[in-house]
Amino acid sequence: MKGLLALPMSALVLGTVSPVQETAVGDREAGRLAYVETGCSACHGLEGQGAGNTGSRLAPDPIPFPAFSAYIRQPTGNMPPYTAAVLGPDALADMYAFLESIPDPPDADSILPAP
Ligand code: HEC
Repeated sequence: MKGLLALPMSALVLGTVSPVQETAVGDREAGRLAYVETGCSACHGLEGQGAGNTGSRLAPDPIPFPAFSAYIRQPTGNMPPYTAAVLGPDALADMYAFLESIPDPPDADSILPAP
């Protein structure tokens, strides 16, 4: 009985912890290079800002990592799919770390000239 209870608990813990770990180990600079070299920037912009109708905005505040990686493997719209053979899990985590590091734009009031 004790063993039966322990298994689902550990599965639950692994399920909640792993996406956070994948994100935390990502290397921002390697991710920026992978993002540009893989061609993501051609459609989504150099900082993931989005570009008209070629690619949606990815940053700041990217969608959660599980949704991010699932979409890249199996997109449902016009985006081409990227299999693990062309874009490994490490590169994906690095890219996510890069997109997560992009800061919010300045407040509009702070960039307008004083009246
Ligand atoms: C040929 C253009 C193109 C390229 C290259 C491309 N994307 Fe996309 N991407 C899109 C478009 C367009 C969408 C909007 C949904 C759709 O039509 O698939 C999208 C959607 C997404 C989404 C889902 C956004 C959301 O809010 O749901 C993510 C994440 C994403 N792209 C990441 C990437 C990454 C990372 C790369 C590089 C590995 C990449 N894309 C390469 C065109 C592209």
